[in-house]
Amino acid sequence: MEIIIQPTPAEATTIAARFLAGIIAAKPEAVLGLATGSTPEALYRELVSLKLDWSKITTFNLDEYVGISPQHPQSYHSFMWENLFRHVNVHIKNVNIPDGLANNIPASCESYERKIGSAGGIDVQLLGIGTSGHIGFNEPTSSLASRTRIKTLTPQTLQDNARFFGSESAVPHHVITMGIGTILESRHCLLLAFGKKKARAIAEAVEGPITAMNPASALQMHPKVTVVLDAEAASELKMQEYYRWVYEQKPDWQKI
Ligand code: PGA
Repeated sequence: MEIIIQPTPAEATTIAARFLAGIIAAKPEAVLGLATGSTPEALYRELVSLKLDWSKITTFNLDEYVGISPQHPQSYHSFMWENLFRHVNVHIKNVNIPDGLANNIPASCESYERKIGSAGGIDVQLLGIGTSGHIGFNEPTSSLASRTRIKTLTPQTLQDNARFFGSESAVPHHVITMGIGTILESRHCLLLAFGKKKARAIAEAVEGPITAMNPASALQMHPKVTVVLDAEAASELKMQEYYRWVYEQKPDWQKI
């Protein structure tokens, strides 16, 4: 894992934007795995401002709530169109987000997995992390080999996401999420986390044992993971000074 610690979320976001812009420039037909939530909002703004060419890009989102329509203001369809897709020249046919209203959810999940395969797999998967350690909506005790499927949110995540819905009881209890096995098959994972609230989940994911109790810890098994943190999210890492030193020592060609 490469751990990059920046003083602020803004500086961390700029590094992530530079990384993704580099991928899009190097591979105009790249397949990007995208994430929602507060963490990537500024990243999407920065990517929009860079005026990149998204015409050949394919995207797969990590997850979606079950039982709310794509038009619902808090659906991840709405989030993605508001924050990114309507501002760039991506083709609608190349945008993939799990269908939270599918009649046959298992079949729809299998079809999502097949589509990722037909697109050639995901080049870069952007990830946030929940305070529970979830990636996508793979909550603690999710199988580390799991595939796209329906999941039930933990009380902690319902509480964390109540801010988007106005109250905890309005948050859908079920979601469709790519599995941890699905995420681990992407060629590069880019995990972003900001703020003190994420510090424990990050410390466990990066420096703790690999355990289904912190699904993000499964990333330790992945050959290419870049974790970009602000100082607060990094604050419980035991080896934070080492990670800072490593990044500073890198030759320019190796830095993002
Ligand atoms: P957040 O959510 O970016 O809104 O903090 C991250 C997540 O739950 O994965």
